[in-house]
Amino acid sequence: MIIREQAKNFYLNNFSTNVFDITSKTYINYMSALETIYDETLKDDYHFVEKYPYTQDLRPSAFDYDESFVDVLVEHGIDLYIKDVIGLNICLSHIQIRNAHPYPDGKSSYQEWHRDTYVYDGNFVGMFPPGLKLIFYPHFDREPQPVLACVPNTALTMQYDRASDFSQITENRIHTISSSNDTYFIFNTSMLHSTLPAREKNLRIIYCFNYGHSLDENSKKCQEMWKDMTA
Ligand SMILES: [Fe+2]
Repeated sequence: MIIREQAKNFYLNNFSTNVFDITSKTYINYMSALETIYDETLKDDYHFVEKYPYTQDLRPSAFDYDESFVDVLVEHGIDLYIKDVIGLNICLSHIQIRNAHPYPDGKSSYQEWHRDTYVYDGNFVGMFPPGLKLIFYPHFDREPQPVLACVPNTALTMQYDRASDFSQITENRIHTISSSNDTYFIFNTSMLHSTLPAREKNLRIIYCFNYGHSLDENSKKCQEMWKDMTA
C-alpha cells in the first residue's frame, strides 16, 4: 500500500497491523530470544516480577536482554513508519516483556478497557501528547488466541466523562487482535483498548514511544540509543 493510503488508514483507525519478514536473521534471533522468556528459561541475571496479578514481567531490563529486540524494529523501518505514516516525531522510550497467565475465574484480564491518555471531568491523565505502542504477541508453536480488543477511531472521539466515553464500546465497533508469529500491532494509546483474558499462558513484547519532556532518566537513555540507531 502506498504511504498516502497507509497514512489515511492509520489516521482513521488509530492503529495498523504490519508484518515482520520472517526470513530475516534478526527476526529468527528475535523469536529465539522471546521463546526463552516464554519458556521461563531466562538468561543469567534476569528474573520475573509480578507487576499485575497472574503476570510475569522481565527484569531488570528488557531493552538489554537481546540486541534483536531493537534491531528488529530498525531493520523493519519502524522509525520511518512512525515519521512518515503516523506523522509523529517520537522515540522509543521503554520495552516491557510480559507473560500473562489465565485468571482462576477464566474471564478477567490484567488490564480492562481504558485509554492510556485521557481527560475526564477536567483531569488530565497519562502522557501528553499521547504515546504510541507497538505490541507483538507471538504464539510460537501454540494456537493463536485473541489477545487485545480496541475500538478503532476513538482516539479522535474522546468524550470528556467516563460514562459517555465508554458508551462507545459496543459489540459492532470492537476490533479484536489475535496473537501471531509474524504480525505486530501499532496504535495510538489514547484509543480505547482492553487486554483480553489469557486462555493459556501468552507473551507480549510492548514497545513504548513517547516524547522526551515527561520521561525519567532511564527512558531518556533509551531514547538516545534509539536516536543513534535510527540517525
Ligand atoms: Fe493501555
